[in-house]
Amino acid sequence: MMNSKTFFGTLLLGGGVLLSFFIGSCKHENLDTINGDSICFERDILPIFVSNCAMSGCHDATTHADEYDLSNYTAILSKGIKPGNPNDSEIWEVIQENEMPPNGALTREQKSYLKSWIAAGAKNGINCVVQCDSNVFTYSGAVSKIMSNCIGCHSGNNASAQVNLSNHAGVQTVALNGRLMGSLLSKAGFASMPPYGSPRLTSCQITQLNKWIGNGCKND
Ligand code: HEC
Repeated sequence: MMNSKTFFGTLLLGGGVLLSFFIGSCKHENLDTINGDSICFERDILPIFVSNCAMSGCHDATTHADEYDLSNYTAILSKGIKPGNPNDSEIWEVIQENEMPPNGALTREQKSYLKSWIAAGAKNGINCVVQCDSNVFTYSGAVSKIMSNCIGCHSGNNASAQVNLSNHAGVQTVALNGRLMGSLLSKAGFASMPPYGSPRLTSCQITQLNKWIGNGCKND
């Protein structure tokens, strides 16, 4: 005979299983549709691939795991993307299902951009205008936005070069020991960042970082 404790326990367990079933089947979030003409590959799409997929040992030109090289436009378009048709694009499928990247799903905003970009024909676009106001140099308004191009490789326990750029303390550390500007300006003795031929930061973004450092690396 089931006593009341086991009964409620069973009920709870059943509810939990049902709930996770529903959550599991609602994986396809409601994404924003972004006007394709406003999306620029080099500015909006390539950093998502480079920072989240093209790390060494994954989908870079050397390893190209599963035959996917996701480090540049030609390679990205050569497999798994059907321009105009995201639902027929294997790359979009695994991202939508949160199967990739393996150590954390892309954000809703990143997914919205990717899906809209594929739907609009997966066009190439270089030398895009980067919105940047060199008079803004707060951590929240400028620095953390720049670092969003880097944190796919530079966050968590396996952060590349043990450089964590996902929070203020981490960015401050490399700002003060010179490694941040050393790598961004490709100075001798530093690994040049961002890697794999990704576009350099613009001079406006470099100015923002220099001003933030000059102002004491505040967490503002
Ligand atoms: C695709 C992955 C990836 C992305 C994106 C990336 N990095 Fe790196 N970063 C690395 C790797 C790998 C190393 C170690 C390279 C080496 O030692 O040769 C590194 C090293 C560094 C270092 C230490 C350099 C040194 O020589 O001391 C800094 C600082 C750095 N990155 C900052 C950045 C910044 C800032 C960005 C964004 C603008 C960025 N990284 C984007 C992978 C990445």
